[in-house]
Amino acid sequence: MSEQRPSDVVSQNREYWERLAPHRVGEPVQFFLDGGSALTESELAVVGDVHGRRVLQLACSMGDEALTFAQRGAAVTAVDIAPSHLATGRAKAEALGVDVEFVEQDMMTLDPRITGFDVIYISWGGLCWVPDLSEWTRLVADRMDPGGVLVISEHHPLWEVMTVRGEDALSVSGDYFGIGRDGYADPLKAPEITRRIGTPDVPHRSYVWSLGSLVTAVLHAGLTLESLQEFPDPDSYPGLGDHATYIPATYLLTASRSRDSHAASPPSPRKGIKRE
Ligand SMILES: C[S@@+](CC[C@H](N)C(=O)[O-])C[C@H]1O[C@@H](n2cnc3c(N)ncnc32)[C@H](O)[C@@H]1O
Repeated sequence: MSEQRPSDVVSQNREYWERLAPHRVGEPVQFFLDGGSALTESELAVVGDVHGRRVLQLACSMGDEALTFAQRGAAVTAVDIAPSHLATGRAKAEALGVDVEFVEQDMMTLDPRITGFDVIYISWGGLCWVPDLSEWTRLVADRMDPGGVLVISEHHPLWEVMTVRGEDALSVSGDYFGIGRDGYADPLKAPEITRRIGTPDVPHRSYVWSLGSLVTAVLHAGLTLESLQEFPDPDSYPGLGDHATYIPATYLLTASRSRDSHAASPPSPRKGIKRE
């Protein structure tokens, strides 16, 4: 696989997502009016009361989770690279009468004015579009206020690389340690919309971030790991049978920025091991 600069990866992914975005609407407005929550019970439990807190959602798409945060009284900023997604989000926010600031931004190079958050949230197929995890975690730590928390709810990287072949039968279709991938060997791992409208004929690159690489990047960014929960979800492994609940399908990671930190610490320079 050829090496690409993160900025090149992001520009090609922007085109890919802008072709898909007009076809993705998320939950209908009525869902939210009826009291529906785009955040899971586990997410709500780790985030706690967001009333009056500043929340940033990264790779928000049409921002369904951002709308739920706003309905719960948070001041929300939601960023994405696909303008059509953001337009859908703005229309839904207006219909709901909630205030969410939808901003077209690359989450790798956020405008310096997008800063000072109590909660930074990313979920469900957002992290796999980050081309450089160390750069991203450092930026996230930098945009958090002391005491702030990073919340990541994602497909499990093990799920990303396994394909169901039948009852109790899995095969390895991706490389857990391979990191970057162009396209998907298993269509179930591609954005759901591509199964209905097909895959846009433009290059795009996403990444499988192993749990080890994620935790390491979080710690190197100067954050404190608060929790890492793994969950089963039989619907993520259709056809696997009863044992589908024996393996993880999703995870939820939380990490905080220390209350007495002044700025996110950059990773310490790597020192060689001195051998006597
Ligand atoms: C599968 S969606 C994210 C999940 C979202 N919670 C949802 O359910 O729709 C992936 C999103 O990431 C966005 N994205 C990809 N690369 C990005 C980047 N560098 N900065 C910001 N958003 C990005 C895409 O435009 C797309 O809306």
